[in-house]
Amino acid sequence: MDYFSYQQNALFAEDCPVAELAKKHGTPLYIYSRATLERHWHAFDSAVKDHPHLICYAVKANSNIAVLNVLARLGSGFDIVSGGELSRVLQAGGDPAKVVFSGVGKTVAEMEQALNVGIYCFNVESAAELEQLDLVAGRLGKVAPVSLRVNPDVDAGTHPYISTGLKENKFGISMDEAEQVFARAAELSNLEVKGVDCHIGSQLTEIQPFLDAMDRMLALIDRLAEQGIEIKHFDVGGGLGVTYDDETPPHPDKYAAALLERLNGRPLKLIFEPGRAIAANAGIFVTQVLYLKENSDKRFAIVDGAMNDLIRPSLYSAWQNIIAVERTDAPTLTYDVVGPVCETGDFIGKQRELAVQSGDYLAVRSSGAYGFTMASNYNSRPRAAEVMVDKDKHYVIRARENVEQLWQGEQLLP
Ligand code: LLP
Repeated sequence: MDYFSYQQNALFAEDCPVAELAKKHGTPLYIYSRATLERHWHAFDSAVKDHPHLICYAVKANSNIAVLNVLARLGSGFDIVSGGELSRVLQAGGDPAKVVFSGVGKTVAEMEQALNVGIYCFNVESAAELEQLDLVAGRLGKVAPVSLRVNPDVDAGTHPYISTGLKENKFGISMDEAEQVFARAAELSNLEVKGVDCHIGSQLTEIQPFLDAMDRMLALIDRLAEQGIEIKHFDVGGGLGVTYDDETPPHPDKYAAALLERLNGRPLKLIFEPGRAIAANAGIFVTQVLYLKENSDKRFAIVDGAMNDLIRPSLYSAWQNIIAVERTDAPTLTYDVVGPVCETGDFIGKQRELAVQSGDYLAVRSSGAYGFTMASNYNSRPRAAEVMVDKDKHYVIRARENVEQLWQGEQLLP
């Protein structure tokens, strides 16, 4: 459930008319709904009921500091994958003691930064990283809390680019090596083994792959207990899918209930790392039609938003719904909605039934996750502005980039 809907023929974000926001702030424009973000976060948090848990929102999905701050105010933790994301969390008022640090390539500087602010746990992804972290912690006179990301080798049944739990992927430590690496972690004096973690992929629409992964991880936790290695938390990763089109992913209630049932009374704290499920449907991307154009057998709606602003359609052939911001009685025709970037792959949607004229605004639904965070300046296009609505109020949470910012830091030869 989200708070974007039509009132008569005009699309609203909560109580704000989207067309007015687009007129006032220009396009392309990202618009987020605070009530939707909060609703989705609470859906996770309340689904786990009174079982000990921590919701660590995956910052990569949408890292605007206003978004992070809204979640921090609810008591959210954060899943980060870089020093930059950690700095954003701190800037947004997030609690470092609720931060888990994932990723296969943490640098020494990032380890130091995270140790110095006292994060909750490092999700270590290789034996080599474990040795490095022990050295860095020792040098700082600290003990690093660690969890090992184990690759359960399950097929998440999602797009190959966002499937991470197969043994051919670069992520995590293989199940065969896991016990040995845990034994080494327990031996290293500047580390404290806290947990086990996995993340099998993104945009999962079935519960079964999560349960398959959990069964393998729980069996590992039991084997570790026999070796005297006590695991305190199980981080189930993120990955719960959302509805872009007609997918029917399980509600967090159903998902959490299934995991808790599998846990079977074990006193393990559960950590969740949802990104998309919280942010995707809390945002839209608004773009204006520049021109309508017809080639031999195709119609194009050329819009001012492009693959540099929203790359998911180009990169993953992802389908996101495109709707009119104001419904009109223009003829409904089939269009490819394409941007101004000089690439054939620059499209927002193909073969869409739309009633549009040049000058109209279109809204691309489900753009709150992996939208702005994946934006680039390709074709020297300044990045879009971001607005957050809160009932009938709205706030610019990121000003539109200007062209001078494009060459900031660049230098002519003497
Ligand atoms: N935890 C870890 C370790 C992850 O790698 C990810 C996502 C998450 C949590 C959050 O997953 P989520 O709940 O959002 O599914 N750019 C792609 C998605 C890449 C996901 C990468 N990892 C897309 O636009 O579909």
